[in-house]
Amino acid sequence: MSNIIIKVEDLKKEFKIPKKAENLSLWKQKLSWFYREWEIKKAVEGVTFQIQEGEILGYLGPNGAGKSTTIKMLTGILHPTSGSIEVLKGLNPFKNRREYTQEIGVVFGQRSILAYDIPVKDSFRLFKAIYGLSEEFYQERLDMLVTMLGVDKFFETPYRMLSLGEKMRCELAASFIHQPKIVFLDEPTIGLDAQAKITIRKFLKEINRKENTTILITTHDMDDIEELCRRIIVIDEGIVAYEGSVKRFKEKYANTKQVDVSYTLVTNKEKLLQLDTKYGIENTIEKSKSYEFPLNESLGNFLKELVSCVEIQDLSIHEPKLENVIAEMYEKENKEKKKREKLRN
Ligand SMILES: Nc1ncnc2c1ncn2[C@@H]1O[C@H](COP(=O)(O)OP(=O)(O)OP(=O)(O)O)[C@@H](O)[C@H]1O
Ligand SMILES: [Mg+2]
Repeated sequence: MSNIIIKVEDLKKEFKIPKKAENLSLWKQKLSWFYREWEIKKAVEGVTFQIQEGEILGYLGPNGAGKSTTIKMLTGILHPTSGSIEVLKGLNPFKNRREYTQEIGVVFGQRSILAYDIPVKDSFRLFKAIYGLSEEFYQERLDMLVTMLGVDKFFETPYRMLSLGEKMRCELAASFIHQPKIVFLDEPTIGLDAQAKITIRKFLKEINRKENTTILITTHDMDDIEELCRRIIVIDEGIVAYEGSVKRFKEKYANTKQVDVSYTLVTNKEKLLQLDTKYGIENTIEKSKSYEFPLNESLGNFLKELVSCVEIQDLSIHEPKLENVIAEMYEKENKEKKKREKLRN
């Protein structure tokens, strides 16, 4: 039986922000030192979802969609305007703050939880005290995390002197130090090189398997998602636009597949040119082509035509990239939104 560990219902967050001067009348602009007009910015407009114990859930959306705001509410940093959050056995991030913080870990890729000027190991000691960990538990846990993330080499170095990848690996180790049941990761791979990303993904997979940690992750790197998550939630302008498996998401929104072909000889130049014009995408490698092939057309017919104009050496058909599918989804949603607006007017 699956076990729901996080239950979010109709969660909303509004920010009150000062009206921009250009939106105020001239006399109000003059008075703006004494007089402020406010407007409401709806950052999260009512999201509802559930997360199961042990799941790695991808929380996706374009810049400004409300991802970080949702995570801040889930971790008790921001108070929701309305809606409810229920975690583990009925814990609320605000009402049960003490108990709650013992159960969760947080990483904000854009902000650090470790002290800037002191050696990393001293920051870890501080966490040991905050979480009230026994020396024995702490040492054992630290050994494990340090090995998994390879951070032992710079454990004595002040945080500010570390590279971005080293910093992030330390942040991750710190957020897992008390063996939390749930970890929230807001862009944990931002700005990192391929090697650091691989280390982090491997770590998350391993710890999730070993300890059944529930992980909610936001990222703009779709390889993170493809590697880690079976299920995703895609939000758009503060509401849930899609919830389900990565596979079904692609089936629902993908329009094309990519076909790569390399050949030894062109047997029908004219026909090849026709295919290039119809489906071709940029490809600068000699004697090879890439095509973006629409899923609603017959791939068989296309391949037959291809065979009739080149002597194929190698051919590969790629699943649509999640990144492209998300872009396609937003395009489709926007078109539909505009259509609805038109009908209304
Ligand atoms: N403290 C705040 N005051 C006013 N507006 C805010 C505040 N925090 C966020 N917002 C606004 O709320 C919206 C959602 O912001 P949020 O940071 O949640 O987006 P995001 O999905 O995390 O985007 P990104 O991918 O760029 O990190 C944005 O329009 C942002 O400008
Ligand atoms: Mg964000």
